[in-house]
Amino acid sequence: MHVKLLGAPVQEGAGRRGCDMGPAAYRAAGLAESLAELGHDVTDLGDVRPATLKSHTHTNPAVKKLDETVAWVEALTEAAYAASADGMPVFLGGDHSLSAGTVAGIARRAKEKGRPLFVLWLDAHTDFHSLVTTESGNLHGTPVAYFTGRPGFEGYFPPLTTPVDPANVSMIGIRSVDPAERQAINNAGIQVCDMRMIDEEGIAVPLKRFLNKVAAANGLLHVSLDVDFLDPSIAPAVGTTVPGGATYREAHLVMEILHDSGLVCSLDLVELNPFLDERGRTAILMADLAASLMGKRVMDRPTRSYA
Ligand code: ARG
Ligand code: MN
Ligand code: MN
Ligand code: MN
Repeated sequence: MHVKLLGAPVQEGAGRRGCDMGPAAYRAAGLAESLAELGHDVTDLGDVRPATLKSHTHTNPAVKKLDETVAWVEALTEAAYAASADGMPVFLGGDHSLSAGTVAGIARRAKEKGRPLFVLWLDAHTDFHSLVTTESGNLHGTPVAYFTGRPGFEGYFPPLTTPVDPANVSMIGIRSVDPAERQAINNAGIQVCDMRMIDEEGIAVPLKRFLNKVAAANGLLHVSLDVDFLDPSIAPAVGTTVPGGATYREAHLVMEILHDSGLVCSLDLVELNPFLDERGRTAILMADLAASLMGKRVMDRPTRSYA
């Protein structure tokens, strides 16, 4: 596989500084080398740069860093569209607002290829606020609302050419949802696998259910992995820790099953804040998870098919 690494040093969507150092931390953790060791052809395309700032003022006074976020979303939409012409783009974040751009660009590409796009959102949070409903004003809490075409972004974010069908989005690991998001998620019909479901069914069952759906539709799958999907005890380098996250073994299992499915077309690694890390352990874990998704495994076994 031709893997294309693109740095997206976005930090304006998060409530604190430091995510801009994420791409450098993945490079220091040896991500490119470990993917190359698996036999992939890896190209590091360097860091994307934001588009020119335009000035906007939103009527919701809570909204923070709107101009900066819009400039990133614009640039990342184009970068993701271009990079997804062939090979597998891996976006090194950067806070989660970057996925407003990456998913919008990948969705446009998928449509051209005549394939429906599905999104797997691995996160403690649903990130389903619009610019109108966000209370924190941190725009990393909005990307899913944007790329599924939820109203409330018009006139600010780039016009969305190809919204992702909310029925094609699955969220796993959810354990922190604001009241306005909860209502909107239910109305939109997005599938949410929260921690209770994981505790009762195990993490593989809901994941395979979703992958069967993607395969049946001949879909392409974009995976967006937020550091806070993981339990804070194994992944401290994130500004929005929530207790009770995915374990080391659950997270690797998800990645291995995703690899075996053969359905993943692109990946975001988001919310890593190296300023909060302990001797690089979170960066290393995220890089290891990316390697599991790209085929690293303990033993050879027959490749399972989820088709
Ligand atoms: N729902 C909260 C908010 O809107 C938390 C969002 C956290 N999102 C993230 N990508 N870490 O502020
Ligand atoms: Mn190529
Ligand atoms: Mn998130
Ligand atoms: Mn999160």
